[in-house]
Amino acid sequence: MIHILVTGGAGFIGSEFVRSLLASRPGVRVTVLDKLTYSGVAANLAPVAGHPGYAFVRGDICDPVLVDEVMAGQDAVVHFAAESHVDRSIAGAEEFVRTNLTGTQVLLDAALRHGVGRFLHVSTDEVYGSIATGAWTEEQPLAPNSPYAASKAGSDLLALAQHRTHGLGVVVTRCSNNYGPYQFPEKLIPLFTTRLLAGRPVPLYGDGHQVRDWLHVSDHCRALALLLEGGRAGEVYHVGGGTELSNRELTGLLLAATGTGWELVEQVADRKGHDRRYALDGRKIREELGFEPRVRFEDGLAATVAWYREHPQWWQPLLERAALE
Ligand SMILES: NC(=O)c1ccc[n+]([C@@H]2O[C@H](COP(=O)([O-])OP(=O)(O)OC[C@H]3O[C@@H](n4cnc5c(N)ncnc54)[C@H](O)[C@@H]3O)[C@@H](O)[C@H]2O)c1
Repeated sequence: MIHILVTGGAGFIGSEFVRSLLASRPGVRVTVLDKLTYSGVAANLAPVAGHPGYAFVRGDICDPVLVDEVMAGQDAVVHFAAESHVDRSIAGAEEFVRTNLTGTQVLLDAALRHGVGRFLHVSTDEVYGSIATGAWTEEQPLAPNSPYAASKAGSDLLALAQHRTHGLGVVVTRCSNNYGPYQFPEKLIPLFTTRLLAGRPVPLYGDGHQVRDWLHVSDHCRALALLLEGGRAGEVYHVGGGTELSNRELTGLLLAATGTGWELVEQVADRKGHDRRYALDGRKIREELGFEPRVRFEDGLAATVAWYREHPQWWQPLLERAALE
């Protein structure tokens, strides 16, 4: 039986990972460690609440005593817990430094002490900065622009250093923008979808020509499951979605999917230091592990909008939470 500690498992991607792992791997034991910050939602894990292989611990990854306790007996760690929203890091970076850097180091130290075999550190394409043409390989030097991206870049380096210095079985993943159900309604797709469904205006940053690559959360979690077993320690792997869209193009698709029009789009001042384009070269994970994203963007987006349309009881209480903090 394999025991996996999942940090940040009540968030968007972590909860998809936990739900899909418990559904597909008989005998696996999953312990979620999550502080339930504003973006941690207990309801995301309701579908697995009665599963015999599942346990939930509410707590902070920066708490070394608690982390030491939950690390005992684990075979692997999948580390999602982070402050994850760029705009919040621009408003105040302190919590990003605490959770993303200190919290990651606390986990790495406990994993080493307890002889954990595998530490999957989930990171982002934003650590590279911005790229006008072409795509980054895993060898690209880091040049983060936002405090969020800088804190993630730092945590990647701490994780890799724990491998090089102490031999911990670290694998770092860097993925593009995820979308899908259960995403907190502060990120572009759920923010715009929930607002448009309610007939409310949406804010488009600057000229809207910032380009992002989109990855369905289920494809991301499938890649993580492959890397958990087959990723080489000390290596970085990209997980891209293969669908590049400008924010303006994506807005057009969301207007069409919700049956609304451009009169609901308000052009607002651009985000400070806004990266123009991200693009990942996904050859390494394809060649080593045969990973390809499966969800066609049009299908994934339609299903995502439908999910938000059908689950207002999930997102309506979160709108207030997003606005208050
Ligand atoms: N969403 C994306 O498009 C995307 C893209 C690339 C990388 N990532 C990375 O993937 C990971 C998960 O992202 P997400 O979108 O699911 O984020 P999220 O904000 O939805 O979830 C983060 C989770 O971490 C928990 N958490 C935060 N601080 C904590 C702490 N100190 N101790 C314990 N738990 C804490 C929160 O309660 C929440 O459940 C993050 O590391 C993020 O940087 C996300």
